Amino acid sequence: LEAAREEGPLLGFTPVPISKADTVVVPPEYTWQVVNAWGDPIMPGAPDFKPDASNTAAEQALQSGMFHDGMHYFPLPKGSDSSTHGLIAINYEYTDDNLLTPEGMVPWTAEKVQKSKNAHGMGVYEVRFENGRWRTVRDSPYGRRITADTPFVIKGPAAGHPWMRTAADPAGRTVLGTFQNCANGVTPWGTFLSCEENVNAYFINDTGKISLLEDRYGIGPSKDGWGFRWHEFDQRFDAGKHPNEPNRFGWVVEFDPYDPKSVPVKHTAMGRMAHEGAVLSLAPDGRVVYYMGDDDYRSKFEHIYKFVSKRPWVKGGGYAENQDILDEGTFYAARFHADGTGEWLALTQGKNGLTLERGFASQAEVVINARTAADVVGATYMDRPEWIAVHPRSKEVYVSLSNNTARGKGKPLQQKDPVGADAANPRAPNLMGHIVRWREANGDPTATRFTWDVFLLAGDPAHPDPLKRGNVPGGVAFAQPDGLHIDRRGVLWIQTDSSAQLMAGKDWENIGNNQMLAAHPRTGEVRRFLTGPVGCEITGINFTPDHRTLFVNIQHPGEAPLPHPGRNDPKNPKAISAWPDGEKGGRPRSATIAIRRQDGGIVGA
Ligand code: FEO
Ligand code: CA
Ligand code: CA
Ligand code: CA
Repeated sequence: LEAAREEGPLLGFTPVPISKADTVVVPPEYTWQVVNAWGDPIMPGAPDFKPDASNTAAEQALQSGMFHDGMHYFPLPKGSDSSTHGLIAINYEYTDDNLLTPEGMVPWTAEKVQKSKNAHGMGVYEVRFENGRWRTVRDSPYGRRITADTPFVIKGPAAGHPWMRTAADPAGRTVLGTFQNCANGVTPWGTFLSCEENVNAYFINDTGKISLLEDRYGIGPSKDGWGFRWHEFDQRFDAGKHPNEPNRFGWVVEFDPYDPKSVPVKHTAMGRMAHEGAVLSLAPDGRVVYYMGDDDYRSKFEHIYKFVSKRPWVKGGGYAENQDILDEGTFYAARFHADGTGEWLALTQGKNGLTLERGFASQAEVVINARTAADVVGATYMDRPEWIAVHPRSKEVYVSLSNNTARGKGKPLQQKDPVGADAANPRAPNLMGHIVRWREANGDPTATRFTWDVFLLAGDPAHPDPLKRGNVPGGVAFAQPDGLHIDRRGVLWIQTDSSAQLMAGKDWENIGNNQMLAAHPRTGEVRRFLTGPVGCEITGINFTPDHRTLFVNIQHPGEAPLPHPGRNDPKNPKAISAWPDGEKGGRPRSATIAIRRQDGGIVGA
């Protein structure tokens, strides 16, 4: 706390106004620069990005993927606290396949499917700060891409279970690839966690027979999908033919960013869902606790989860000593009571009604069908739980509830009745989103009881509809909180993700482009720190250890105002946004940016 006081006020920067401009705006005493954009070379031997998107699928597999999302800065050398040299491990959540090649999706070909798969997944790139600027190191031996075809080992209770077995993998222990890698996490032993979110978007079942499990996880006919057409050239995405393949996605994955040869892992003990992120809180005895939101774009009503490891982590050990810690533990779902208390309900086979009679023969079936297990134990249906952040001192936990326009009239999947407003989700419909926080009993992250409150309601303070106004002191216009991070000084950073479709409408008149704000956890003050280019989401956040550089991702600038995922016109790719390359570039590109104070001071202070 003393050190924090020396670093200045919690919120010391000049707030920025809302923006509808096609650029990044930061406070006048700050600067920003692009560090790494879609298509930039990151692996040894990777070619330059071609602005007309004519790089081949094989070239894309050596370059940055398309839609940058959660990320983490790992110092180099390993074990140091360098703030001028490091690795950024990053998620490439999904793609706009109309922007990915010169002529877009017509005609649709096997090569285009391969390029789309190679633009998904994760990456590692090396960065250096020299002469006042960050740059990506070309041909770094650490450079890595993990795509929708990279082999993963399956671990934990579901490994080898019959529901995980496929024709290509009769043992149910090896799966190809990862996609929809949304938010992230880290481990105390220095590895990167990445979370598979809306994976159902890639699978179709046109047989007319949808199982209860498929239905609960949003697997359905191609006409109801997002328009990813991988199944037309890769049969494993046709769930009618390969019904267990979808069960191998929707997990928390882990890999060691310092070892480019390490085999990535899917940890099934942490449950299967539309994983938003996995946020660490360390128990006093060294057990690791992860908080996880389930943000299903289609069902909207999903739950909040927690995983508590059985064993403490091996302090001082690396990945080799700790690689099994996330494979054994207790998995919980949260119930928020109206009186401001709450409880964690164990999702353990044989307990809390999770019996054979209810369809749970083993813990494998509980984790594969985690959503139904959480329904059975009576977990609360939340408004699209997105990122979670833990305060480094108080251990209080904050969660973004991005929005849920179905609350009040819609029904959670497989439930009989519509769900209206409740204490933890107080607006029906909830267009603008809110942030809830909780405090575990005795400040212990392993506790099974907690108390909670609503930290803020987002909105436009001038909106005629009181349900859309929000309640932030002084009135700050922003909507649909998504990314969250609490820095070491205790600032709660909030990033927003409103779709282009919404931003094109009247409700966003006073809110403008997506933005990033800083909140004071005690006073509730919120200040706008950054606004993004047109049609982008602001997501991914991490500081260097000295807190003098803040990395942020600008995702899908130029998203079209169409149903999700908004696809651009390949004949006029810059129609909506030309960020960051401007008129000389060929098309908008997601990118990591670095933000610094002009005087080199602590960011935010
Ligand atoms: Fe990928 Fe819920 O955001
Ligand atoms: Ca998100
Ligand atoms: Ca979102
Ligand atoms: Ca997005």
